Amino acid sequence: MPVLEIANLTKDYEVGFFRKRKVRALDDLSLSVDGGQIFGFLGANGAGKTTTLKLLMRLIFPTSGSAKILNRDIGDVRMHERIGYLPENPYFYDYLTAREFLEYCAQIFGSPSAERRKRTADLLSRVKLDEKSWDKQLRKFSKGMLQRVGLAQSLINDPEIVFLDEPMSGLDPVGRREVRDLIASLRDDGKTVFMCSHILSDIEVLCDRVAILKRGKLAQVGHLEELRQRTDDPNRMEILATGADASDLQPPANAIVSSTPRGLRIEIAGENEIENVLVALRKAGGKVVSIQPVKQSLEELFMD
Ligand SMILES: Nc1ncnc2c1ncn2[C@@H]1O[C@H](COP(=O)(O)OP(=O)(O)OP(=O)(O)O)[C@@H](O)[C@H]1O
Ligand SMILES: [Mg+2]
Repeated sequence: MPVLEIANLTKDYEVGFFRKRKVRALDDLSLSVDGGQIFGFLGANGAGKTTTLKLLMRLIFPTSGSAKILNRDIGDVRMHERIGYLPENPYFYDYLTAREFLEYCAQIFGSPSAERRKRTADLLSRVKLDEKSWDKQLRKFSKGMLQRVGLAQSLINDPEIVFLDEPMSGLDPVGRREVRDLIASLRDDGKTVFMCSHILSDIEVLCDRVAILKRGKLAQVGHLEELRQRTDDPNRMEILATGADASDLQPPANAIVSSTPRGLRIEIAGENEIENVLVALRKAGGKVVSIQPVKQSLEELFMD
């Protein structure tokens, strides 16, 4: 069941002061996202990812088109109680402490005070903010610490869907790993996550489905595995081997042999050439590590 349905969403920004003109940031985007998934929204800088999220959050208004979240029009205020949002550059009132800020957010959603305290403590531990910082003012926080507070804020109302704009930005590798685990745990709780990112490795390990936006237009959408399937030549296989040198190997005529840090990589046109490569490898003293169809990396897909 789709929990997010976007239909022909278009946004023109008006730019210029004396001579106004329009810039199309989002062009006729239609998209549907099923519940219980982590959906990756990819695109280069300026592709329109943040614009899409701002439209869905009703922070800006579309030029045309519409969208539904949890089967309600995005104009329906009550629906917004059931969703969460982490902006790209969260700006907090920075004289509050992390704890005060989150309790304040919980209060906006009307939770009683005992529950507010409990929920705040639960979330601050869940985003792994060091307990020593809970009662420090946010203006003393580093970028990564603020990002964690932002994430906690987006979950304060126990949302059914959470929209995250670059959730890993500003985090060190340990922090990224922790946030990655947190996002995966949201899916385990049955939540839907819609996340924008251009950190492809994070998308690759987390997302069930992805959409790629290119200059405001939807370029690709689908399951990551499907998208990575090479459509130009689905039969191509790759064999990884160790123990042999490229110079000693006499592979079949049209095989492409390359050395990688992990050993040799031999790309062939199809399954029927595997045997020949195995024979050649055996002669050269090599050992097969893996044989698999050639898949496009997400990076190649993104660059296309
Ligand atoms: N308030 C605005 N006024 C005019 N143009 C804008 C405005 N906000 C965004 N744009 C333009 O709209 C386009 C899409 O911007 P958007 O911020 O949605 O991209 P993005 O995909 O989030 O990029 P990034 O990866 O850098 O965050 C860009 O060309 C940008 O210059
Ligand atoms: Mg953005």
